[in-house]
Amino acid sequence: MQLRHFLQFNDFSREEYEYLFERTRWIKREFKQYRRYWPLTDRTLAMIFDKNSTRTRLSFEAGMSQLGGTAIYLSTRDTQLGRGESVEDAARVMSRMVDIIMIRTHEHDIIKRFSENSSVPVINGLTDEYHPCQIMGDIFTYTEIKGSIAGKTVAWIGDANNMCSTWLQAAELFDFKVHISTPQGYDINPELIELKGTEHFQEFVNPHDAARDADLVTTDVWTSMGFEDEAEKRKKDFSEFCVDSEMMSAAKSDAVFMHCLPAHRGEEVSAEVIDGPQSVVWNEAENRLHAQKALIEYLLLGKIAIER
Ligand code: CP
Ligand code: NVA
Repeated sequence: MQLRHFLQFNDFSREEYEYLFERTRWIKREFKQYRRYWPLTDRTLAMIFDKNSTRTRLSFEAGMSQLGGTAIYLSTRDTQLGRGESVEDAARVMSRMVDIIMIRTHEHDIIKRFSENSSVPVINGLTDEYHPCQIMGDIFTYTEIKGSIAGKTVAWIGDANNMCSTWLQAAELFDFKVHISTPQGYDINPELIELKGTEHFQEFVNPHDAARDADLVTTDVWTSMGFEDEAEKRKKDFSEFCVDSEMMSAAKSDAVFMHCLPAHRGEEVSAEVIDGPQSVVWNEAENRLHAQKALIEYLLLGKIAIER
């Protein structure tokens, strides 16, 4: 098996995602029918967290055990990584002991350096720049509920953060458009995102204009992990960037609302939107589990013949 990592969304081709989504559907269906699928008995996933997590930890840990393997939680607070052991040495050692590694950390460069020294697949469980596992689950969710995302319009309202950058990479791969509206000073920097071009996104000053006729409206916290010092200033700067019913009404009448969670009701989204009929946030959260199981299976075992 060729060693592959999943560090950013464009590490995989569209054809690979189509395959992963087929596997996700099968894995989800089998699991819901209580049919055991244990291809990873004796295999171990190490999960390294340098930031908090609920969904990512739980979905990887539960997912690995549902595949017959084991997951080990490691935090930089209580491993030698927190006491100055180099990322390179940690990667060399850990990849001798486990079969696959997931990391949630700060700068993308850290996970890149780790992967360059790892002899087993490395998965990005969120960096300051990207959150590819989340967008993989989100596009699976959109497809499951509404069909193909190709040719659709996604409205991104708020901070041009790791989620926004990953949506932009996905737009190029799946051929949809992202309409972005961020407060002044928080806009995207396409050069940092490794995009092929600019034709898959458009920027809007007014968030209502970005939401107009969108098929999917999405947002995220105003202050991402690692940026807490800016929280008070951000609350003022983002005050006009709440996805509320009025903003949703600018989108298509059958548009869905997504949020990777955790959410702050009354800040980036109103309670009536996130708890309302257009919201698919709980499906999104659940599908992280199924999609990541397909991802782990693919990275460790390669393509499996699809059973229908
Ligand atoms: N959406 C997401 O990654 O959630 P956690 O921070 O809880 O893992
Ligand atoms: N943008 C958020 C996503 C959390 C899942 C953060 O990085 O904190």
